[in-house]
Amino acid sequence: MAGKDDDFVVTPWEVSGKVDYDRLIELFGTERIDKKLRARIYRLAGEKHILLERELFFSHRDLKWVFDEYEKGNKFFLYTGRGPSGSVHIGHLVPWMFTKWLQDRFDTPLYFQLTNDEKFWFNPELSIDQVKQFTYDNALDVIAVGFEPEKTYLINDIEHIDILYEIGVQVARKITFSTAKAAFGFENSMNIGGIWWPALQAVPAFLHSWIYGTKTPCVIPCAIDQDPYWRVTRDVAERLGYYKPASIQNKFVPGLQEGGKMSASDPMSAVLTTDKPKLARKKVMNAFTGGRATAKEQRELGANPDICSVFKYYQFIFMPDDNELNKIEQQCRSGEILCGECKQILASRMIDFLEKHQAAREEAKERVHEFSAARLRDEIKR
Ligand code: TRP
Repeated sequence: MAGKDDDFVVTPWEVSGKVDYDRLIELFGTERIDKKLRARIYRLAGEKHILLERELFFSHRDLKWVFDEYEKGNKFFLYTGRGPSGSVHIGHLVPWMFTKWLQDRFDTPLYFQLTNDEKFWFNPELSIDQVKQFTYDNALDVIAVGFEPEKTYLINDIEHIDILYEIGVQVARKITFSTAKAAFGFENSMNIGGIWWPALQAVPAFLHSWIYGTKTPCVIPCAIDQDPYWRVTRDVAERLGYYKPASIQNKFVPGLQEGGKMSASDPMSAVLTTDKPKLARKKVMNAFTGGRATAKEQRELGANPDICSVFKYYQFIFMPDDNELNKIEQQCRSGEILCGECKQILASRMIDFLEKHQAAREEAKERVHEFSAARLRDEIKR
């Protein structure tokens, strides 16, 4: 959804080209997370967060209002989601880790939608059994991130549609086909499941308020490509008696290959959460860097961290310490460190991280029911 003259594309289905995030803010009409807002979040949260510091989370809608309400004692809840169309990779975990931080720091419920219906409608090559299997597998990764079971509800759309449907029918009546076409570019060839989908992605933004009969602000941590959904959701919210959901939006986590984001459909670009250490190391050692053609040249001229995928991984997760990051950047630019050595550092950190995640993922197998949104059925009074 970029303009005619832009040489990148960002829609919920396609991200390509070199994304200009300033331009996206302008096109989508969201707001930048500036220094002042960051400082306010840190003050309320009681600590900083690396993903705000390093501006992976960079854009928002209505967060100032959410914090005004929060300071008045009106707490918010969180809503995020995942389309289970394949395996989870490290890039997916990054915003979920931030969501966990928000849950911990602001003590909020979290509704996590696993959109197996969406993926079934939008990916014709997937069978119903495959999306169900991915729903389960991906849920393990979500749980392994460490969310609070008492406050976390994993919504499996196909299984839990009864919880969503009463709100869904009301949302759907307020969205015309022409609105959906304008927001999502649907063509006549789109199956009608896909056309109804935006109504269902809106539902969890209202779910807490509907169940508890309270008007509660909602904050949606998500990648910026989901913004068209929230435009439609915000459009219907007040007419249904709810607040417009706010959002806090992240950039795409880059892949390990040149350009583009981490994508499970490009296996060498993505370290999957289930990769064995040896394979993870191999992927990191094959990563695209800003290095020179020869070691000699690099020693003399230095390399370019600005285009290096390894450096981005340091920036966004594996080097939270600013001094350490600055030091390696300087060593890179000056040619003091070569890419092979630098990739080894990332590979060991990646493997440590993976081993912990995989252990948590194993434990999650016993705990899936603790997180199930099925518990909400007892809360709903009809
Ligand atoms: N549409 C998202 C996807 O394809 C899944 C999703 C549903 C989501 N609700 C969400 C993502 C809320 C972020 C926030 O992956």
